[in-house]
Amino acid sequence: MQSQSWQPVLPSHFLRAGENIVAGFLSGQELAVWRSRTGSVQAWDNRCPHRGTRLTLGRIINDNLSCAYHGWEFTTQASCAAIPANPSLPLPKNLRVKSFPVTESGGMVWVSNGEAQPSDQSAADAPSAPGSFFCRSIGIRADASGVRATLELYGFKAHGAHAWHGDIASLPAVILINAITSQLTVAHAWLRNEPSRVELTKAQAELRIFRRDIEANQN
Ligand code: FES
Repeated sequence: MQSQSWQPVLPSHFLRAGENIVAGFLSGQELAVWRSRTGSVQAWDNRCPHRGTRLTLGRIINDNLSCAYHGWEFTTQASCAAIPANPSLPLPKNLRVKSFPVTESGGMVWVSNGEAQPSDQSAADAPSAPGSFFCRSIGIRADASGVRATLELYGFKAHGAHAWHGDIASLPAVILINAITSQLTVAHAWLRNEPSRVELTKAQAELRIFRRDIEANQN
């Protein structure tokens, strides 16, 4: 088991400031991840504290996340800022969205289950080499130990808690593993150098084969 509580949740470039809300996972916890216009990233429980609607269904209005159901708005501090359908209602001061520590490193958004703070260094195993190029994230229906075992078979070597270094389609690569549940793992694959279009297509095809091999071994 990994002791670090930081998990590589999604590539930073998936988040467009003030525009989109992306689903992520942290050890079985479903997250709503979004970036404010000032660039800060929020990682929240994907559940509205009003009536439980998924926050990823909402939208960002004036740097607040607006829930899709009744339109309640939540600030980047996770507190309620507006109840548009009933503006005379006092804002519920104690109603907050559950939020998680979040940091960015090496092109990834890392989220902690609360045991690690952004000052901790456990996110340092992100692919930080200059020129790292995002290849693909794949969801694999297998537990993380099965994914790690297959990575070893493919010649990858572990570096830190989450990163594996090796080659994808003969290109130097880093794969970051995020254990979601006992039956689901997400692998975020990065290439060390910018590939040609043909090389990228080959690398993405090899990742699909990699997933097929792991899932076949699970059955
Ligand atoms: S469920 Fe989100 S505002 Fe009501």
